[in-house]
Amino acid sequence: MSKLVPTVRSGDVLMPALGFGTWQLENGTAVPLVEKALEVGYRHIDTAQIYRNERDVGAAIKASGVKRDEIFLTTKVWIDQFADGDLQRSAEKSLEKLGVDHVDLLLLHWPKPEVPLAETLKALNEVRSRGLTRAIGLSNFPSALLRQAADLSEAPIANDQVEYHPYLSLKTLKAKADELGTSITAWSPLAQGKVAQDLVLIEIGRAHGKTPGQVTLRWIIQQGIIAIPRTSNPARIEENFDILDFALSDEEMTRIHALARPDGRLGDWLDKAYQWDAE
Ligand SMILES: NC(=O)c1ccc[n+]([C@@H]2O[C@H](COP(=O)([O-])OP(=O)(O)OC[C@H]3O[C@@H](n4cnc5c(N)ncnc54)[C@H](OP(=O)(O)O)[C@@H]3O)[C@@H](O)[C@H]2O)c1
Repeated sequence: MSKLVPTVRSGDVLMPALGFGTWQLENGTAVPLVEKALEVGYRHIDTAQIYRNERDVGAAIKASGVKRDEIFLTTKVWIDQFADGDLQRSAEKSLEKLGVDHVDLLLLHWPKPEVPLAETLKALNEVRSRGLTRAIGLSNFPSALLRQAADLSEAPIANDQVEYHPYLSLKTLKAKADELGTSITAWSPLAQGKVAQDLVLIEIGRAHGKTPGQVTLRWIIQQGIIAIPRTSNPARIEENFDILDFALSDEEMTRIHALARPDGRLGDWLDKAYQWDAE
């Protein structure tokens, strides 16, 4: 089986199309799981200040023996740290906890209207200029806000990390992101486990000898979108990585796109000042 994970151009950096998510892996649980992910071959780890596991992720990276420069490490600034000064201190704190001198990508976790976006982006750009992160990006920014951020930022907006799985459409945001050279990362790519019971995904999986989870992750990366599945089950760490030796046909891709539905969103914490794209 080929283990070469494709990369996705994101502003001026390349990101592995498959990463390991660590939300809700708290109190030390992330350590053996991230170590296992690195052993299996993942080279992209996603954490956030708010996940309270940056120290654990850092410890796992160190213990894994995989060289730091072979790993694409993302963390996120929480929404109460968006003011000039707070953001820079938050980034320094994250690096201290992770035990690294830079991350590869630093994201604003959710858009927030309290601090002007221009101020937050200036601070984020400063963090990048100081070399604390190789690239900067956003999370949960709909297309109009992504456009605004790109206009305000000196450095390219490398990435927008948003919820995406077969029950959501991403048409508008993907088109805007493509236009701006911004990559998209899919969070909750497995719809938090719901894809496992989906009859369409089960049927497509049977044709390839793959599970519904594998079909879903393949569908995402085949669109040039990055997927960061999370599991606390070591066998599933392997399962979710084993998606590089098959391809879905155009017809199968279209069948999966047709599963999108208006009530498909699972995590809606968008400030009411903003609106998701209609599709
Ligand atoms: N930027 C943001 O605002 C944001 C928001 C949410 C998440 N994220 C990031 O995205 C990552 C992934 O999202 P997520 O954790 O919400 O959800 P997810 O990856 O879609 O799903 C995780 C759930 O699916 C189960 N699962 C894992 N592999 C499976 C498989 N092959 N078949 C069936 N079930 C499977 C897991 O259970 P087991 O543990 O029992 O395997 C877990 O309950 C997060 O960990 C985090 O890094 C970012």
